[in-house]
Amino acid sequence: MATQLLIVFVPSILLFCIVPFSFSFTPLDNHLLSCGSHTNASLFNRVFAADSTEPGSDSLAAEESVSVTNRNPPANSPVLYHTARVFTGVGSYRFDMKRNGTHFVRFHFSPFSAQAFDLKSAKFSVSVNGNSLLREFQLRNGSSSMIKEYVLKIESNLLEIVFTPVGDSGFGFVNALEVFTAPGDFIIDYGARLVSSSGVEEYRNLSSQVLETVHRINVGGLKLTPFNDTLWRTWIPDDDYLVFKEAAKRASSTHTPNYQKGGASQEIAPANVYMTAQEMNRENLSLTSRFNITWKFPVASGGVRHLVRLHFCDIVSPALNLLYFDVYINGYSAYKDLDLSSLTIHMLASPVYVDFVVDSDDSGDMEISVGPSDLSSSMRMNALLNGAEIMKMVNVMDSHTVHRREKLWVLVGSIVGGVVILLLAIVAVLVAFKCRKRKPKQRTVESVGWTPLRMFGGSSLSRMSEAHASPGSHGYLGLKIPFAEIQSATNNFDRSLIIGSGGFGMVFKAVLKDNVKVAVKRGMPGSRQGLPEFQTEITVLSKIRHRHLVSLVGYCEENCEMILVYEYMEKGPLKRHLYGSGHPPLSWRQRLEICIGAARGLHYLHTGFAQGIIHRDIKSTNILLDENYVAKVADFGLSRSGPCINETHVSTGVKGSFGYLDPEYFRRQQLTDKSDVYSFGVVLFEVLCARPAVDPQLTREQVNLAEWALEWQKKGMLEQIVDPHIVGEIKPDSLKKFGETAEKCLADYGVDRPTMGDVLWNLEYVLQIQESGQLREPNNGNEAAVNVTTSFVPGTRSNNVRRDRDYENTSSDISTSQVFSQLMTNEGR
Ligand SMILES: *[C@@H]1O[C@H](CO)[C@@H](O)[C@H](O)[C@H]1NC(C)=O
Ligand SMILES: *[C@@H]1O[C@H](CO)[C@@H](O)[C@H](O)[C@H]1NC(C)=O
Ligand SMILES: *[C@@H]1O[C@H](CO)[C@@H](O)[C@H](O)[C@H]1NC(C)=O
Repeated sequence: MATQLLIVFVPSILLFCIVPFSFSFTPLDNHLLSCGSHTNASLFNRVFAADSTEPGSDSLAAEESVSVTNRNPPANSPVLYHTARVFTGVGSYRFDMKRNGTHFVRFHFSPFSAQAFDLKSAKFSVSVNGNSLLREFQLRNGSSSMIKEYVLKIESNLLEIVFTPVGDSGFGFVNALEVFTAPGDFIIDYGARLVSSSGVEEYRNLSSQVLETVHRINVGGLKLTPFNDTLWRTWIPDDDYLVFKEAAKRASSTHTPNYQKGGASQEIAPANVYMTAQEMNRENLSLTSRFNITWKFPVASGGVRHLVRLHFCDIVSPALNLLYFDVYINGYSAYKDLDLSSLTIHMLASPVYVDFVVDSDDSGDMEISVGPSDLSSSMRMNALLNGAEIMKMVNVMDSHTVHRREKLWVLVGSIVGGVVILLLAIVAVLVAFKCRKRKPKQRTVESVGWTPLRMFGGSSLSRMSEAHASPGSHGYLGLKIPFAEIQSATNNFDRSLIIGSGGFGMVFKAVLKDNVKVAVKRGMPGSRQGLPEFQTEITVLSKIRHRHLVSLVGYCEENCEMILVYEYMEKGPLKRHLYGSGHPPLSWRQRLEICIGAARGLHYLHTGFAQGIIHRDIKSTNILLDENYVAKVADFGLSRSGPCINETHVSTGVKGSFGYLDPEYFRRQQLTDKSDVYSFGVVLFEVLCARPAVDPQLTREQVNLAEWALEWQKKGMLEQIVDPHIVGEIKPDSLKKFGETAEKCLADYGVDRPTMGDVLWNLEYVLQIQESGQLREPNNGNEAAVNVTTSFVPGTRSNNVRRDRDYENTSSDISTSQVFSQLMTNEGR
């Protein structure tokens, strides 16, 4: 179906350019009026004639109309907007038209108060040749000025614009009017694609529709004013509509685009629109990962038909026929395998546009996405968009019949709506209540995570501890350490004691009064940057104790300081022991034990609470080693509580680190604990190959570790890329199982990845194979060893988990006593 349509549409798209494109457009009919004015006024180099003295001055037919002038116009407001015509009764403008066909009609509304009229309070309707364009129109309050633009077909040599005040004391007004002929090919009756749940069909009726411009966007570019546009349009940047900014990257070209017959003309959109675009941003991701770039534009909801005109110009590909992408509107496939090269006469950077006709849904947004098509080669996945216009098809039915019907609908609608809202409210209350009851801790992290922590004495802490008051948790009031003590423990933040630094600030090695070695993380003094992370870390860590999670000894927020004090980890980050810092290489056994420890910590984080916690920034620098090389997961600044019941994920902006980022998280902006599993898979390969997750120095295929290692794993040749220091030491079966485990973690979709519990189990098994040299698989036989997640015997798994809890208890005791000794020291002062 789709390919057939492609064949039908391509020739029609090729046909359309009729108007010459080399010189600037001059409309045959061109009426510009400055309303309520006795002198001409200009705007963007165009002269608007005073409506009271229009040549042939029969244009204005209004018995009851007044000219008003703003005596105190705001600075910078154009002279055109200093006057207005006010209609206290029905009034009209009439224009003689030389040409039938598509025309632009623009109304300029720029309200002010003058001569007893507060133009902001006007309420009126406007029709053009009987087509009702504005119904009971009121300026949204606060808006300084507004242009309403319509594109419609005129089939008479007279054009009449009628203003009708609404209500007893109502009046209408307008500051300026534009009526001018559109280029002949501006709206054509073939080639538009009607997109709906039943697929794509051709829409043949476009030119007879009355269109109201809702959005006109210069994607990836700057605001364009009427100066920059032959049809005096304004194009605005797309930034505010981009759903997920990280998915997109601006592209721009310095060359004028190659306008050609068969493509878009300069009147369809000016060069500046086609010289900029947004393309897929894969800086954080492997070249083969797929995701969409999505924009959401507010539109009238409830099945209102819209024309969506998308502008494309391939300014990103190095050659023709490399770029294939899909276009989706409101979740429907709107254009599959769009190949810009085939729509133009074999030249890159040639502008084209495609018209789509789509009904709005009930969301109140028009969602437009572009993403790589199945035809794109795996190394060249890209998609782009240069411009977008959304125009509403106006229902121009005679206003009287419409009124009665609308009123009925409003009545029915408000009754139905009221009932629905009531039901929703009841459901929402029930759900919220249930969620709260079952998951008391979920609110803690969420509410504290975003509450600004008071910085200057006083007590946001009381608020925080209230939120935190759940039975059995370590109230973190007790973890407060006086600034003076931290100062002395760090020798007044002696630079020679710095053991690390990050986005948050510096980390110092320190010794507290009771001789406990600690790491002191100090936020930039006086800066509020990192405040949410600071709070999250206190909230998360103060309620967690686990042998494989770095524990918080205390914190300080005196003197505008944000300071966190942790147990000291003698051997520092895992990364440092893998490559790049001259430490002696770790043995395979040590590496496995470290991975197992970290997996245990993460597993506890994911499952140890009613509301699981997602770490969000698992990487080899956030796995720390103590003096016995026991691994502990650190840095909870980015962690979030897991999804509430009835939710499968947490939606959130992407945070995390290059090379470790879950592509699905990137694609769907949905956070689950499987995102941590992905990052952990990258760490596993890092441990095996002793190289960074991203190494820009390497060749393209090797830059991204996850991608590169997976390739070798899939070829069954993983031993080729193992760290030479340990390659002789690893038993083949152990390597095989390890490779499979890491591969599973890196599955494209979260659902296909194992849980951390599964990963833990597998790593323990890898260690077992390595130690014993033989398989002790529940199902016995080599075959079973090949299955990674399917070979679990439930009993074994729960044993495992139980053992994990045991660990937790003992470690909890240790750390608690540590904390208590800390408390006693504090109190003894
Ligand atoms: C804006 O509208 C609100 C209610 O819709 C009204 O209370 C308020 O006074 C209005 N403000 C102005 C400046 O007209
Ligand atoms: C738009 O036109 C103005 C006035 O001619 C000019 O200064 C500006 O650079 C133009 N903008 C672009 C993006 O070309
Ligand atoms: C892109 O968006 C469409 C429509 O919402 C969806 O069907 C498709 O799966 C998305 N593609 C990717 C790679 O996420």
